[in-house]
Amino acid sequence: MTNTANIAKGLEGVLFTESKLTFINGSEGILTHLGIPIQEWAENSTFEELSLALLEARLPTAEELARFDADLKANRAVPQSLLDVIQAMPRGVHPMQALRTAVSYLGLLDAQAEETTEEARRAISVRMIAQFATVIAAINRAQEGQEIVAPRMDLTHAGNFLYMLTGKEPTQEQARLFDIALVLHADHGMNASTFTAIATASTLSDMYSCITSAIGALKGPLHGGANEAVMDMLDEIGTPEKAAEYIGGKLDRKEKVMGVGHRVYKYFDPRSRVLRDYAEHVANKEGKSQYYQILETIERVVVERIGSKGIYPNVDFYSGTVYSDLGIKKEYFTPIFALARISGWCASVIEYTRDNRLLRPDARYIGETDQHYVPLQER
Ligand code: ACO
Repeated sequence: MTNTANIAKGLEGVLFTESKLTFINGSEGILTHLGIPIQEWAENSTFEELSLALLEARLPTAEELARFDADLKANRAVPQSLLDVIQAMPRGVHPMQALRTAVSYLGLLDAQAEETTEEARRAISVRMIAQFATVIAAINRAQEGQEIVAPRMDLTHAGNFLYMLTGKEPTQEQARLFDIALVLHADHGMNASTFTAIATASTLSDMYSCITSAIGALKGPLHGGANEAVMDMLDEIGTPEKAAEYIGGKLDRKEKVMGVGHRVYKYFDPRSRVLRDYAEHVANKEGKSQYYQILETIERVVVERIGSKGIYPNVDFYSGTVYSDLGIKKEYFTPIFALARISGWCASVIEYTRDNRLLRPDARYIGETDQHYVPLQER
């Protein structure tokens, strides 16, 4: 019998579970984790603390945080055989392809990989949160033909990542800025990649499979790939004087402008405001970069022309310029998104599988009926 229920294209507005982690009010531009506004997390917390808070679904004590931080540090190094695989990858592959392969391989080396108890999922999560940094930095170094840099234990998660990526110790200001960017990206409710991780987990599959699936979902230009696409657009525009005409033309042709619009936010994404404040701070100190001036114009034109449709800058709009100021190449923007979102993915998988139900939606059948098989020679 045909299912006559309404089709929720893109699953928009469909509730499939409960969560204590993240709340979003898209029409007012509000995002909270554990009820605390994202602006307060960005201002006061660290990626390490937010990761633990998400895994535990509560604010940790100072002692718990110190233990978690020590655990992350103890897990920073990855097996040499994984580094060999990363070195052996063809040059010029997209780092998200490389990350997907590396994480899958990492699972082969983890004796606990196939365990799916909550305790095992949590232990694997800590290892993955720590090791994503090492893996992404190693992919960058190997792809650039540079020596892989071993992790340092005296730096924060963010500072150590920048150090392994560039081989240079970042300033405190750079490390803190990057830390804030990680905090802003750590979790965001039932976005496509988190949903994908949960869909895989709902079959009671293992953590590495869940996270590998999520990486694949994050890679696409409508999700994590958008920050890279924003930089491509800025490079194509070239100079601030050309920005208004370029964006106007795109909107006239009904083409998508990258870094604006969001399935949930119909007003400014609060994360984009935090990043814009930072970009403005840098612009006030060091003068406005070309990129920043182009973004200002795009924001103005987009809000004027399609703000009424609920299209405003999202988190990806400014994140690229922040990363680019830190000397990070645009191909690494999406892996950096994964570096942050790994915490949200792991926490969401753990939360969902506590009261697991296999995800199995349906499609309305609109194909032929009452047909019979026609032999090949008669077609
Ligand atoms: N540029 C121009 N117009 C847009 C854009 C955009 N980026 N996004 C939506 N619109 C328009 C649509 O064409 C549509 O217009 P219409 O009503 O005249 O047909 C209207 O706004 C509503 O858009 P939808 O497609 O219904 O919005 P949806 O919720 O499906 O799209 C999405 C959300 C996919 C993020 C979209 O805005 C987009 O493609 N943005 C660019 C990619 C991007 O920045 N992605 C990052 C998302 S955030 C993240 O993953 C961290």
